[in-house]
Amino acid sequence: MTMLEGSPWLLAHRSMLKSNQPMKVSLYGQDYVMWQDANGEIHALPNACPHMGAMLSEGWCVAKSNGTSTITCPFHALEFDQAGSTVLSGSNKATKSLLKPLELIIQGDFIWSYGGVEPKIPIPTVLDAIAAEYEFAGAAGHRSIKTDLLTMLLNMHDYNHQNGTHRPLFEIECVEFKQFIDQGLQSHAYYDMPRAKPKVQDILKNPALLAMPKVIEAHLENHFPALIIFHGETPIGTIKQCHIFVPESETHTRTFVLVFGKFVNPVFRLLKGNALKLVETVVEQDADILGKLYPNTPQHIKMNNEMGMDWVRRNFENFPEVVEPNLSR
Ligand code: FES
Ligand SMILES: [Fe+2]
Repeated sequence: MTMLEGSPWLLAHRSMLKSNQPMKVSLYGQDYVMWQDANGEIHALPNACPHMGAMLSEGWCVAKSNGTSTITCPFHALEFDQAGSTVLSGSNKATKSLLKPLELIIQGDFIWSYGGVEPKIPIPTVLDAIAAEYEFAGAAGHRSIKTDLLTMLLNMHDYNHQNGTHRPLFEIECVEFKQFIDQGLQSHAYYDMPRAKPKVQDILKNPALLAMPKVIEAHLENHFPALIIFHGETPIGTIKQCHIFVPESETHTRTFVLVFGKFVNPVFRLLKGNALKLVETVVEQDADILGKLYPNTPQHIKMNNEMGMDWVRRNFENFPEVVEPNLSR
């Protein structure tokens, strides 16, 4: 198993779907077209048109008077309803379903799916709790990265890459590891990252750097495999960066970050756009390094504080079972 079938995946946040605009999503090597109608209902169908295989996501939605909408194929303009039926010319009857809808589980603004596979672990509720308490600042860093799911997860749970991959811009000088709490498919990591003084040109490029403390105190809350929450305390507000992963195929993994915040200082609101830009940069840096490594290289050296990666490997190999060792320290 390489894509952890049976896990729930967060395909999108509602804000990423503009009303009646098709969006292509991929899961387990299958492409889908997903769209939100004027009623706020979200639909997803396999993306290949059953006529001659055109990508439905390249087509357009047709809004109906009752608020629902259909998706029209860009090739010969066949129009499919949310159940995957169409009406052929010369007939006034809908066909049977020609496209099996992808089952979605909508929790508030979060669009989850098991990709049609038998669920093995539940959908985490932590995002609902965050959304209830914090203001949604936006989605950022949305991209498909040419890397397999395991390599992506290893990178995201690798605490030592902060001062390599993310050294530019943030000027992180070192990672001082504090604690790792292993709770099976969940875990928490705490570490400090002292930063060098940002350069004037970087501040000009991104004023949000000014809102970042001299020492970044990181608390990562991990929900294997789809979600990492970075809890950040800054002098002007609390920020929750929720990093999401979706296995598009054996070779591609999609990621995006949902940013929530509680803004004790109005300055923070002004910096919101810049905060999203910083996230954009972080994801870009990760994507860059993931494109520059040989993923299956046997690891001959171990650094300190790689227990996050050990946690990923243990859970990945035994999914959904949780086995020894417990990696808390
Ligand atoms: S390929 Fe879609 S209508 Fe012909
Ligand atoms: Fe990273």
